[in-house]
Amino acid sequence: MKGLVRWLDDRIPMTATYKRHIGQYPAPKNFNIWYLFGSLAILVLFNQLLTGVWLTMSYVPTTDGAFASIEYLMRDVEYGWLLRYMHSTGASAFFVVIYLHMFRGLLYGSYQKPRELLWIFGMLIFVVVMAEAFMGYLLPWGQMSYWGAQVIISLFGAIPVIGDDLTLWIRGDYVVSGATLNRFFALHVIALPLIMVVLIFLHLIALHEVGSNNPDGVEIKKHKDEDGWPLDGIPFHPYYTVKDLVGIAGFLMVFCFFVFFMPEGGGLLLESPNFEAANPMKTPEHISPVWYFTPFYAMLRAVPDKLGGIVVMGMSIALLFVLPWLDRCKVKSVRYRSLGHRINLAQFAISFVALGVLGLLPETTILKWCARVFTVGYFGFFIALWCYSKREPTKPVPERVTFK
Ligand code: HEM
Repeated sequence: MKGLVRWLDDRIPMTATYKRHIGQYPAPKNFNIWYLFGSLAILVLFNQLLTGVWLTMSYVPTTDGAFASIEYLMRDVEYGWLLRYMHSTGASAFFVVIYLHMFRGLLYGSYQKPRELLWIFGMLIFVVVMAEAFMGYLLPWGQMSYWGAQVIISLFGAIPVIGDDLTLWIRGDYVVSGATLNRFFALHVIALPLIMVVLIFLHLIALHEVGSNNPDGVEIKKHKDEDGWPLDGIPFHPYYTVKDLVGIAGFLMVFCFFVFFMPEGGGLLLESPNFEAANPMKTPEHISPVWYFTPFYAMLRAVPDKLGGIVVMGMSIALLFVLPWLDRCKVKSVRYRSLGHRINLAQFAISFVALGVLGLLPETTILKWCARVFTVGYFGFFIALWCYSKREPTKPVPERVTFK
């Protein structure tokens, strides 16, 4: 075995890479549960890739074959139902994990210098994951697949000058059709997953270059022993591999509960109109995207003008990209920041969740006004942050990490 390792090491930096990124990667010793979600995101990614490959073996990407092939998979393919439910539940799990992972970044200022690029790679991953989920949703060719895609793609038509050409280009036809299904299939199974994997690789390289932040927001690289090892660092393996395994076990219990007992998630994970094949002649009573898109959908609906809605939706994502430059505070972690910042962050989280709930409900006048209030809350977070962060009164930050 030693001989084989040496043979490989002479040809590829196997042991060196393992040591640099796992065996001797110095992780701050005060990580808490918020630091679990990166590993969980990798786990869910593997679940999606593996189940996706097997689903593709039975799936037929044509308007005549798509819905029927999924029915066939669910009823006649051995464990086909399990593959499908692992993939559909996995999509929602991906967003739960990613939203929590991003919120951790907000809590501890992990987007601030020197981690701006790491954050931007994260945001690019987020956009690609959204595109991946949107395209995947068309594939079962159910009523909601069809009409959801119809509504979202037609939004681009509101963009001045290029709108009509752009929608035609995305759909490959004048309506959502077999051409759309075919290209969404190609993008969903190969192009976007490839881009995602490359971006995740870059995300992790960028993370390991600058080192992990931690709940205190102090840089552990500032205090090193004579061998250059950070005093507040512990090797990722075995300390965090073992810790993450406990979290993974907990996550899998919840995940399996949904897969085996509530695969439709009360209509949240798989919407009921999608158990009916797509019918271009019959619009469902209430069209709403899957829950993970609803915060953005609610913002879109809150604006009376179609183009204005698209701009607001685009801005809601764009602002997250530039967050590292909007937050001008020298202190990273919420633990040592002002009460005002804590309130701002809390109202941001509440606004986001509330918009998510509102986006699921049919539109009424009162709910539209509620969505407007929470949209202001969402954008207010960024504007207020930029205004107060430079002169924010903060608490003294400890030199070394703390933990109870
Ligand atoms: C498939 C999606 C993603 C995967 C697999 C992934 C993976 C990881 C992993 C394994 C870590 C180290 C462990 C941890 O800190 O939790 C990490 C850290 C980080 N990720 Fe992600 N990530 C993803 C998406 C995102 C997104 C969407 C963002 C934000 C826009 C983001 C921002 C960050 C930041 C800022 C850190 C450093 C946190 C710190 O050191 O405090 N990631 N990511």
